[in-house]
Amino acid sequence: IEVDPFDLIVFGATGDLAHRKLLPALYHRDCDGQLPDEARIIACARRDLEPGKYREWAEESVREHVGDLDETVFKRFLERIDYLAVDAGADKGWQDLAGVLAERPDVVRAFYLAVSPDFFGPICERIGAHDLVTDTTRVVIEKPIGKDGASAKKLNDTVGEVFREDQIFRIDHYLGKETVQNLMALRFANALFEPLWNSAHIDHVQITVAESLGVEGRAGYYDTAGALRDMVQNHLLQLLCLVAMEPPESMDADSVRDEKLKVLKALMPLDPETVEKRTVRGQYRAGASAGGAVSGYLEELGRTDSVTETFVAIKSEIANWRWSGVPFYLRTGKRLAARVSEIVVQFRPIPHSIFDGEAGSINANRLVIRLQPNEGVRMQIMIKDPGPGGMRLREVPLDMSFAEAFKVRNPDAYERLIMDVIRGNQTLFMRRDEVDAAWAWVDPILECWAQAKDAPKGYTSGTWGPSASIALIERDGRTWFEDM
Ligand code: BG6
Repeated sequence: IEVDPFDLIVFGATGDLAHRKLLPALYHRDCDGQLPDEARIIACARRDLEPGKYREWAEESVREHVGDLDETVFKRFLERIDYLAVDAGADKGWQDLAGVLAERPDVVRAFYLAVSPDFFGPICERIGAHDLVTDTTRVVIEKPIGKDGASAKKLNDTVGEVFREDQIFRIDHYLGKETVQNLMALRFANALFEPLWNSAHIDHVQITVAESLGVEGRAGYYDTAGALRDMVQNHLLQLLCLVAMEPPESMDADSVRDEKLKVLKALMPLDPETVEKRTVRGQYRAGASAGGAVSGYLEELGRTDSVTETFVAIKSEIANWRWSGVPFYLRTGKRLAARVSEIVVQFRPIPHSIFDGEAGSINANRLVIRLQPNEGVRMQIMIKDPGPGGMRLREVPLDMSFAEAFKVRNPDAYERLIMDVIRGNQTLFMRRDEVDAAWAWVDPILECWAQAKDAPKGYTSGTWGPSASIALIERDGRTWFEDM
């Protein structure tokens, strides 16, 4: 279905996000007939460039990131793109931008700030000063939203001076992933799971977001962030919220976000003693990846004194009726053994076995939601081994692979999210109080780590992280599932 006519103004249009994600996503939406004729993309960056030159770049990057192109659509798509040299931090170009936007005051106007957060303030101020905010204007910002609660507050205040909360779209691209949205379908469109979805039936939950790549060209940013800020404060906590939240009243943005907020607020805070016991920090050393030998984080950074973590494992708990006593083990890291994101819901064992020892052991049921790659849902259940040899039990997967079931291209998260911005649907975006609550839980961990005398534990690239992470879960008589 076509969205309303819009002007999408992309700041940072010559940057990586625009070229790798935004333009390819918009092209795909154009292919599917979702962009109306009156959709314009106004690319803005500081550099003086002819629009034709920018379109050449855009063409190159879309060709590079999208496989087979539909040349007719692609030609139409490129014609939608204009380029303006606008300086985020100075007055240059703003009059021109105001002039272009004034041609169509009634269409949806979306400012996408694909720039470093240092520019959020200056850009918003100028948007305000030039009176560019109409009733149907929205602004999109990307993480990192602050480096702690205090800086996030400052940043949100600055944006909030120009835009109302219902105009601010804070992207967490994990919420746009098909399989993440599917988590809501799984939980709330099936009668099967919800009655069992609590501490009486669930033993624990594991959320793993493992990457095989290192920090690549981003060491400069990454070293100021680390895995806790880069991944846990946003992506992993959002996943935890979707697993743990109460059924919202509807898919309406505030109903969903109210429920996620309650989960974040119920997260059991960690203090210096519990941080020591329940968190593990790691930093990758040299090792091997699929492509061969790789160097360690410090060598890549070119410094030897960094204590930035590239791996984190945390045992968290949610202090409410539904989840009391059920650990949520979170784990994420770079240069791990595989690129895989999974949520594992481990059910409790059956209360009593009617089978004798010959039947073999009975494994408790396990629901595995594979977010990427090979997206799918798998339920591990026990069955009888076929054949006349008596009652022998065996664990088998009830397996649903999206690729096999649907045979369609899996759209990138940004495709869904950009269209939601145009439609004004905030369900898959973070509300300000969610960001604050996530920082409120993360801040004390960061403070304890800053005061701790020890550095993150080294782990060899291509493994599953420091052995302390294995100890973290095995101390509780459990184990990480890596049968992915
Ligand atoms: C980003 C992080 O938000 O998510 C990166 O800044 C990380 O460090 C990336 O690599 C992972 O996203 P995806 O979609 O590849 O799992």
